[in-house]
Amino acid sequence: MATHSKKTAKRKTSSKHRTRTSGYLRNRKLRVLFPLLIVALLGLAYYINRGPSSPPLPSPPADALYRQSSQPIEARVDDLLSRMTLDEKIGQMALVDKNSLKKTVDISRYNLGGILSGAGAKPSNNTPHGWVEMVSEMKKQAQESRLGIPILYGVDANHGNGNVPVSTIFPHAIGLGAANDSELTTSVATATAQEVIATGINWSYSPSLDAPLDIRWGRVYEAFSDNPALNATQGAAYIKGVQQTSVLATAKHFLATGSMTWGQSKNKKFQIDQGVIPAHEELLDSHYLVPYAAASQADVASVMVGLSFWGDKRVIANKHLITDKLKNQLGYKGFVVSDWYGMYEFSGKSKYEANIETINAGVDMAMLPYDYKDFVKDVNRAVQKEAITHQRIDDAVRRILYQKFNAGLFDAPRQNQPGLDTVGSPQNRDIARQAVAASSVLLKNNDELLPLAKNADHILVAGSGADNVGRQAGAWTIEWQGINGNYVPGGTSILQGLRQTSPGNKIDYDANANFASNIKADVGIAVVGEKPYAEGFGDNPNPSLDEADKQVIERLKERSNKVIVIVISGRPLLMTDQIKQADALVAAWLPGSEGTGIADVLFGDKPFKAKLPLLWPTGLHQIPTTVNGKTADGSAPLFDRGFGLAGRP
Ligand code: BGC
Repeated sequence: MATHSKKTAKRKTSSKHRTRTSGYLRNRKLRVLFPLLIVALLGLAYYINRGPSSPPLPSPPADALYRQSSQPIEARVDDLLSRMTLDEKIGQMALVDKNSLKKTVDISRYNLGGILSGAGAKPSNNTPHGWVEMVSEMKKQAQESRLGIPILYGVDANHGNGNVPVSTIFPHAIGLGAANDSELTTSVATATAQEVIATGINWSYSPSLDAPLDIRWGRVYEAFSDNPALNATQGAAYIKGVQQTSVLATAKHFLATGSMTWGQSKNKKFQIDQGVIPAHEELLDSHYLVPYAAASQADVASVMVGLSFWGDKRVIANKHLITDKLKNQLGYKGFVVSDWYGMYEFSGKSKYEANIETINAGVDMAMLPYDYKDFVKDVNRAVQKEAITHQRIDDAVRRILYQKFNAGLFDAPRQNQPGLDTVGSPQNRDIARQAVAASSVLLKNNDELLPLAKNADHILVAGSGADNVGRQAGAWTIEWQGINGNYVPGGTSILQGLRQTSPGNKIDYDANANFASNIKADVGIAVVGEKPYAEGFGDNPNPSLDEADKQVIERLKERSNKVIVIVISGRPLLMTDQIKQADALVAAWLPGSEGTGIADVLFGDKPFKAKLPLLWPTGLHQIPTTVNGKTADGSAPLFDRGFGLAGRP
């Protein structure tokens, strides 16, 4: 109250204001008219604030062509587009973070095209049911708009519907690259999409088609491989798996993300993420575009443009790459979406100018993610000033609408929609478990130590990742940066998996390997590696084991006859000395919630089949690797790309 009156008082003491007001009010007629004027002004303000010049147009009839599911999609798009005002079109191009949505009613007021849950933007009731409630309310609001265009709701379901605590967490993409099994990748993607649909969501920001050349980058694990050919096959398999449900997939981050130069990030907090890619034009067709050609062939609904620079120009402002190469040369038919704040990030221009530049470069939907009101206003102004053509807007909206129709979002939900019990279901966990076994790479196996016997052995288990589902899962699990600990409900740690799979063995566990000095076990299993990280927060000048994990290996060497080292990491680690100490070595990547999959290969229930999807260097002098998968200085890596031992069956 006090602050309010202070503000009011200030306005009242403005002498100019006071004189004019009192002058008017001396006139009797004006004394009557004045309140009316105020009411009219308030009405006008309300009208303006209602939304972008929403004209009082009638809602099309229930049998309007675009509402008829029997009509061809192109005809439905044409019909709908012909009914849309400019602001309704621009609204469709806006993608807003759930936490930046000022009021739910803004979805219909501004005809927003999509809402996303950026990492961590979850409902207060973070359960499958809570998600359904939140997303349904927003979908319902979109129905209230004049044209009733459904919204897209997007999440980063890059290894399962990771925001939701009880969901199945599959291996991160690097593991699927190691498995290199398209059928498996498709089934992982479909199972993920089913869990996504069950929570009401219809858009997934995956797969990543990035090709990491530098293991110091914090996003290596989101990619299948550094090999464009492998990215192409696994990317296409993943897209097929997602889009054979009603969920839209996203190929990202266009283009050549992963080839940035260390130390050149444009983001002060990072080292390489959001950095500069040397603009080798000659590598476009032979390398960088290869996975996008496959994604385009697989009819991926959307392509996300990354935050990197191509030479000295932001990729997002590069018409040559987005329009000439992706849309024209590859014939890509879906829509192009920007990354988080990507339209404006590092642009050095006003938002008005940046909108013009990026939309003209070929961006169709803007992950703003904050200020949609200004976006609609600014883009409208740019069109009025002919800085953006009506054709460009129509092309963008046509692409977005096509995908909405194609996914069936305008029509009654299909039969057999997955229910809430799909989230974390035993069937999906089983697919994840198979994927864990299929993605674990056997790198060393002296004297055929593996597979282990299932009974009568004494096994010591230790290490930071042994009983830690959070570490197994990595980032993009419940929280953006993941969780370090056993707080992933429904998951099984590697230790639990070992115990379940071999009840006949005596298994002792101590995270730090502080076992009694008189113990000499048959086998010690050290589960070591990295704690979770996402994006540039994982940029690391020297990715290696920490002291505690190194000591665990030492101690296990003293307390057991043989030592198996299992590495839980988002990338190959520089750990040549520790690898020398190991009798057997397994790269398990970030396997996800189903730790039992590791036990399956250790005990020989499943064979080791996976191969390294990128080389494993001996030291920093070997990175970044070349686009052909060789070390920087030509020296021999510790393990080559494609290396992986076949375990004894
Ligand atoms: C990431 C994208 C992600 C988006 C939405 C960005 O920070 O670069 O990969 O899809 O956020 O969460």
